[in-house]
Amino acid sequence: MKGLILSGGTGTRLRPITFTSAKQLVPVANKPILFYAIETIKNAGITDIGVVVGDTKEEVKKAVGDGGAFGVKVTYVEQEAPLGLAHAVKISQDFIGDDSFVMFLGDNLIKDGINSLINEFRQNKPNCQILLARVANPQQFGVAELEDGRIKRLVEKPKEPLSNLALVGVYMFDKNVFEAVNAIEPSWRGELEITDAIQYLVDKGYDVHPHIISGWWKDTGKLEDMLEANRIMLEGIETRIEGFVDETTKIHGKVIVEKDAEIHDSVIRGPAIIGKRSKILRSYIGPFTSIHDNATITESEIEHSIILAECVIEGIGSRIEDSLLGRNVKVRRSERKPKAYRLMVGDNSEVEVL
Ligand code: G1P
Repeated sequence: MKGLILSGGTGTRLRPITFTSAKQLVPVANKPILFYAIETIKNAGITDIGVVVGDTKEEVKKAVGDGGAFGVKVTYVEQEAPLGLAHAVKISQDFIGDDSFVMFLGDNLIKDGINSLINEFRQNKPNCQILLARVANPQQFGVAELEDGRIKRLVEKPKEPLSNLALVGVYMFDKNVFEAVNAIEPSWRGELEITDAIQYLVDKGYDVHPHIISGWWKDTGKLEDMLEANRIMLEGIETRIEGFVDETTKIHGKVIVEKDAEIHDSVIRGPAIIGKRSKILRSYIGPFTSIHDNATITESEIEHSIILAECVIEGIGSRIEDSLLGRNVKVRRSERKPKAYRLMVGDNSEVEVL
């Protein structure tokens, strides 16, 4: 069996972060989301993985390389435009050949892995196995309508959903999916939809098996989802202090302090992670905070946030919460007159002030 990870797409809902970075490379607990996908597939015993890339291909290739660092072999498949998930399958036919494969959307996270699901697929050998999860907002997903435990209908982003069962971005197929992706037509949004391809398989009488999952799963397309994913992944860390922590600092709960990080006169309340070479001075870092490498936090309080590499946060009088700061962002108190907020923020940024 092979793996196919989709890592194209434009990440519009995560702008401005995705103006300069692939959405699959935004870190959760200081690790790019895409890396979790690779590890999840590897843990299921699959090491031959295709990665479909688009506009951000250089960045993705640089981060993942040939897969050796993960113990897998990565083959890149270039998609010239984001023409849909089924289109990504279509252009991967040479890589997949006659094998069965698991397709994993590179911005999806499944906490409990997919080992048992892959085993189930291998044992029962349906033509396709889809994962479904009950969600509160089915309008934002592909939605499945079941009848007597079998799939009756799949609709992509329905205005009036007929169930709360969303399609999780992990699908297992045998080679018959290529018949489907070559037969379907683009949807109203001009994309070859994977839901239409699966519907095709259902309509042609192929065996499509739905599996309702109960564990935690997230499509990390938006800020709230990123923060929740960060929370869930940080809950799973174990304390590891490799950097310097001075005597006046207090560390509570599970905290990772990476190599060459320095913490002086601060309180770190985990779960939290402080990246390599970052400096925390006279500050409070609260639960569910990930601070990436080379950041400097001085006389500030941060909680439930993701702070990317090279950020500088200085002398902020109020606590920063529920925030995602891109790379090399500077937020600091200014004594300059006239007293005013001075902002230089990118397109689609959001700033809330007190
Ligand atoms: C895609 C699929 C959708 C699925 C979702 C899961 O949507 O089209 O059927 O439910 O992934 O993450 P997208 O996130 O690309 O809008």
